[in-house]
Amino acid sequence: MTRESLSLDGRVAMITGAARGMGKEHALLMAERGADLILNDLNGETLAETAEECRALGRKVTEMVCDNTDIPTFTALIPEHEDDHGRVDILVSNAGIQGNKLAIEDIDEDIWEAMTNIKMKATFFAARAVVPGMKKRKYGKLINTSSIFAMEGSFSMSHYTGAASGVLGYVKGWARELAPWNICANAVAPGTVATELTINSMGWGVIRDFEKQVPMGRLADKREIAYAAAWLASSEADFLTGQLISPNGGQTIVGI
Ligand SMILES: NC(=O)c1ccc[n+]([C@@H]2O[C@H](COP(=O)([O-])OP(=O)(O)OC[C@H]3O[C@@H](n4cnc5c(N)ncnc54)[C@H](O)[C@@H]3O)[C@@H](O)[C@H]2O)c1
Repeated sequence: MTRESLSLDGRVAMITGAARGMGKEHALLMAERGADLILNDLNGETLAETAEECRALGRKVTEMVCDNTDIPTFTALIPEHEDDHGRVDILVSNAGIQGNKLAIEDIDEDIWEAMTNIKMKATFFAARAVVPGMKKRKYGKLINTSSIFAMEGSFSMSHYTGAASGVLGYVKGWARELAPWNICANAVAPGTVATELTINSMGWGVIRDFEKQVPMGRLADKREIAYAAAWLASSEADFLTGQLISPNGGQTIVGI
C-alpha cells in the first residue's frame, strides 16, 4: 500500500513518450500510486500495451498518439484529453530521441532541429497547454526530463547535451513564475539507463564504459528514475521547486 504522502490518488498525470523505456515506467508507477493517466507517444501500438497494463491497475487511461514535434496537432489534443479527465495535475515531459555520438561538425541543421524540437520545443508547448488549468486549480507539478550530460557534459552529442540543459532553464523560469499558483517545476536527470534509446545510440560497449564511471558500480534502473519523478509529483515534494534530482549512483559528485 502506498503511504498517504506519496499517494497520487485523485490526480491526473500526463506522460509523454510513455510507450516504452522510462516513460512506461513513469506510467506504471504513477498508476500503482493511484493516478489516472493521459499517455502519449508516437508509437500507438506499443503505447496501447502500456495503457492496458495501467488499466489493469485500476486506472482510467487515455491514449494520445501523435508526433509531439507537430506542435499544432499536439497542443490541440492536450485539451481534449484534459476535458475527458477534467484536469491535468502532473506533466512528465519524457519523450526524447537518441543523441548519436557526433562531433560538432557532423551535427547538421536537420539533426539539431530534430533534437531540439522534441526535447525543447515539445516540452515547452506541452507545459504551455496544461498551465492554464493548473493556474485555475492552484495546483500543478511540471517535471522535465534532463540528463546527466546536462551536468557533466558529453564527449560528443552536444546537440543532445544542449537540449537537456535547455529544459533545466525552463524549470528555473517556470518555478519562479508559477510559484504564486502553487505550481512546482522540477527536473529529473537520469544517469545512464539501458533502454532501447541508449542501446541503439551508444551500444553496449559505451554503456559499459559509462557504468565504470559510476561510484556505485552499476547503471540506473528505470524504476529508480520513476521513483524520483513520482516523489516530485507527490505531496512530499510540495515545497520543492526549481530543482534538479539526478539518480546517478554518485556519478556527479561535485562541491555541494
Ligand atoms: N536512457 C538513458 O540513459 C537516459 C539518460 C538521460 C536522459 N534520458 C532521457 O530520458 C527520456 C526517456 O528516455 P528512454 O531511454 O526511456 O528512451 P526510449 O527511446 O526508450 O523512449 C522514448 C519514447 O519517446 C517516444 N518519442 C520519441 N519521439 C517522439 C515524438 N516526436 N512524439 C511522441 N513520442 C516520441 C518514443 O516513441 C519512445 O517511446 C528521453 O528524453 C531521454 O533523452 C535517457
